[in-house]
Amino acid sequence: METLQIKDKKFAVSIPEAEIRRQVKRVAEEINRDLCGRKPLFLAILNGSFIFAADLMREITLESQISFVKLASYAGMSSTGEVADMIGLDADIEGRDVVVVEDIVDSGLTMQHVMEMLRARNPRSLAVCTLLVKPENLKVDVDIRYRCFEIPNDFIVGYGLDYDGFGRNTRDIYTVVE
Ligand code: IMP
Ligand code: MG
Repeated sequence: METLQIKDKKFAVSIPEAEIRRQVKRVAEEINRDLCGRKPLFLAILNGSFIFAADLMREITLESQISFVKLASYAGMSSTGEVADMIGLDADIEGRDVVVVEDIVDSGLTMQHVMEMLRARNPRSLAVCTLLVKPENLKVDVDIRYRCFEIPNDFIVGYGLDYDGFGRNTRDIYTVVE
């Protein structure tokens, strides 16, 4: 089996390219159906979602727009300490049908925070579209409308996802092996 070494970790293919393509297409078709007649704005969260967003968009047949945002973590003044600020949201989302495009929902804390920030800007509708979910790890209740894969609670890389910045450039998705 083909393995991938990144720093101290070894990875093996867990979701091959062809399967990714199939599921991305399936989810895109759901969005095309659900938002038929609308002109949605896709908001992709950098860095992890860049490849997924590119493939997803090429299966979207709706008249639509895409914009990219980035989350910058900093120690803010909230009681929880870590606050992620959203950088690059220049589009006016009020009254828009917004689809947030994310690579992976793990604990769900990031997505919960993103949804709160976006909801405050009064979109007409707001849906999450994620490539991956780790259901066993979800700590908060996030409404994930579209998901390509549910995966076990193991660390993965590839197809946009990274380990310490590396491994984003593979066509398949890899899981860490001991
Ligand atoms: P959450 O707030 O715990 O849901 O964190 C989600 C973020 O953690 C994702 O956007 C990823 O950047 C990162 N992440 C979670 N699990 C993995 C993984 O298995 N591989 C790479 N990045 C991950
Ligand atoms: Mg991410």
